[in-house]
Amino acid sequence: MSTDAGHGDGAAISAGRVTVVGSYNAGFVIDVDEIPVPGETVLGSDFTEGPGGKGSNQAIGVARLGANTSFVGRVGDDHYGDEAFDRWAQEGVDTEAVDRVEGVATGAGFVIVDEDGENAIAVAPGANAELDAEDVEAASEQIRNADVVLCQLEIGDGAVERALELASDAGVRTVLNPAPARALPAPTLESVDYLTPNATEARLLAGLEPDANVPNETVGRELLSLGVGCVVMTIGEAGALIVTEDDLVRVPAPAVDVVDTTGAGDAFNAGFAVALTAGHDVTAATRFGCQTGAHCVTAREVIPGLPTRDDLEAVPAPDT
Ligand code: RIB
Repeated sequence: MSTDAGHGDGAAISAGRVTVVGSYNAGFVIDVDEIPVPGETVLGSDFTEGPGGKGSNQAIGVARLGANTSFVGRVGDDHYGDEAFDRWAQEGVDTEAVDRVEGVATGAGFVIVDEDGENAIAVAPGANAELDAEDVEAASEQIRNADVVLCQLEIGDGAVERALELASDAGVRTVLNPAPARALPAPTLESVDYLTPNATEARLLAGLEPDANVPNETVGRELLSLGVGCVVMTIGEAGALIVTEDDLVRVPAPAVDVVDTTGAGDAFNAGFAVALTAGHDVTAATRFGCQTGAHCVTAREVIPGLPTRDDLEAVPAPDT
């Protein structure tokens, strides 16, 4: 199997099985010229509603890249929950481990995107917060049968910890996208093979201010010392930095016209996980993730930006 997951090579990646344990949020997006400061109201332009949530976005991203995809999560018993199931059915995401929680609203995400494509997001977790360790235990078949288990932090700590532990005990590789960032217990971090924060999340996890003026390498090494196997830090248009015990590798991102950066991390993690299932090493998987992430930022909203293999043909080669 080729280990080169570079430009134009999307079709060469034969995908395996990915189980995503995470959130679904109904998404509400408003375009504005500038993101308002506290106390300010601004008039926006376009408003759209659609599927979102880091877990579901990543599951759809994985499925579009051809992996056998299972999702473990919770939605409410409202029409947003219906929309979620419709979407997963359309995208070929297996939902045997998704339940509806009676009397609880589906999670919701409010996204404001400015004219440079930067965003501010607030999430009301709703049913996502109901997913607990026992629910995850009930999905142990989906977890143990995966090649890669992918989690984020829009669900409770107990669910994340159990998912990573079950996977790790079964020899399944684990990816934790620590978004939104919060301090995590040592056993959780010790079950993580690949930690994929962005630069802000990396600083928060390392106990620093989100904009601390510390080199990314130093932050990455600090995270490694918390017990994760490898840190893959995404750094926007600069690509990604891989930090392991023995190595530091910089992976450039393809240069694209940015429309909306929302979901770039979701697309990156989807590509990264799929490439790992195909037997690619961390550098090749990161390169593929940078391609899928770059594709995502060229579209308004996350779901339209999540690429299929064919879509990746349009992503330019990164400047090295
Ligand atoms: O990563 C983007 C996602 O973050 C949005 O879909 C929103 O729902 C929040 O979860």
